[in-house]
Amino acid sequence: MAFREDFLWGGATAANQCEGAYDVDGRGLANVDLAPVGEDRAAVVTGQRKMFDFEDGYFYPAKEAIDMYHHYKEDIALFAEMGFKTYRFSLAWSRIFPKGDEQEPNEKGLEFYDNLIDELLKYDIEPLVTITHFDIPMHLVKEYGGWRNRKVVEFYENLCRVIFNRYKGKVKYWITFNEINMLLHAPFMGAGICFEEGENREQVLYQAAHHELLASAAATKIAHEVDSENMVGCMMASGVHYPLTPKPEDVWGAYTSDRDNLFFIDVQSRGYYPNYALKFFERNGLDIKITEEDKELLRENTVDYITFSYYNTRVGVGDDSNEETVESNLFQTPDNPYLEKTEWGWPVDPLGFRTTINSIYDRYQKPLFVVENGLGAVDKPDDDGYVADDYRINYLADHIKQMKDAVELDGVEMLGYTTWGCIDLVSAGTGEMKKRYGFIYVDRDNYGNGSLERSKKKSFDWYKQVIASNGEDL
Ligand code: BG6
Repeated sequence: MAFREDFLWGGATAANQCEGAYDVDGRGLANVDLAPVGEDRAAVVTGQRKMFDFEDGYFYPAKEAIDMYHHYKEDIALFAEMGFKTYRFSLAWSRIFPKGDEQEPNEKGLEFYDNLIDELLKYDIEPLVTITHFDIPMHLVKEYGGWRNRKVVEFYENLCRVIFNRYKGKVKYWITFNEINMLLHAPFMGAGICFEEGENREQVLYQAAHHELLASAAATKIAHEVDSENMVGCMMASGVHYPLTPKPEDVWGAYTSDRDNLFFIDVQSRGYYPNYALKFFERNGLDIKITEEDKELLRENTVDYITFSYYNTRVGVGDDSNEETVESNLFQTPDNPYLEKTEWGWPVDPLGFRTTINSIYDRYQKPLFVVENGLGAVDKPDDDGYVADDYRINYLADHIKQMKDAVELDGVEMLGYTTWGCIDLVSAGTGEMKKRYGFIYVDRDNYGNGSLERSKKKSFDWYKQVIASNGEDL
């Protein structure tokens, strides 16, 4: 058998993409609530278009999403029916600390997570909790400038203290920041950052990155102090860069593009800033405030395991290249003509998954956990409302096969695998409902029409069989 007996099969979601109930039980407004569906979304999540309040003429999908806030029992029962061993979800920071800088948490917000976690434990489903998945209370954005401000590290620590104590003995697996490297590509979504006229963007971004890295190390410290059983992981949007050609400049371009992403994990996993990053700061005149105490905190609190999302590989080119780029998961990259594309133009590359898994494992030698992988596609229910999503089954089977080879043939230590969007939810990149990833169909469209009724797709039974056979029966 390729996978360990206690391999954690399951699915993943994020609070802002499924919970809805954005103003219920005292929840405060968050950055992610303000990302509308449609053309302007990209400008908002990248921080180019400041949208600090709801504006007329826009539809904001996170407000209601798939209303998991009121459907979680039904949804978890379906996950249990599939045989989930784990469920990855995120906490909405502004549910627990509505403004972010309060001393005391919002009891009502915590109660929701108490209930959700107890419901999972009822079915022996291991909770895998992302502390922040692209969200930050808007009050911290408006008053403090988001993660550009070091004060936010303290507020994040408060959040961590509350949740680690509250869920001691119930939650063991934690992830500090979802896709931490996304901060460079979507600063408003990743860090609540909008730029001021004329400011040095790299300076702002890397200082914010330092704050998140610091917060991640502080969280790891607190988690271990509260319960030595706690396992704290980092999380990156992965996908190795292939050189466009064997031209040395392209090979170097691919190598350095990988480093842009690995930089974060280098710090979280090794405990110090790599020399190439320090040289980059120096060369570009960036003055990143890193104290001696910060260095110590980072050094002494490295992560226990490494998690990542994988959707596709990317292409790297030399600096002199004029190659046109295409967008995939908010990364700009030249097209890879050897790969098929999804309906949203994302390349499909199962073997690249094995390459990516190995490259991460080779570098860090820590247990890995794939916490996102999946196919965003248009599903067309038949007259009975049934979705025969063979395309999704094929995509996942092809990727799981490669993960299996990484474990069985390459000896990678792998803790588990959670598919992205195990139930249809709002797309982070586009805000659409039409871009579906789930085994469970949710009746809702891009503009909030639909009954929110849940139904099983063909892939539901398929994944159940994958889990029951521990990945043998694909
Ligand atoms: C990852 C995010 O980048 O990709 C998820 O962690 C996101 O939040 C997922 O939903 C898929 O991207 P999209 O844009 O198709 O929703």
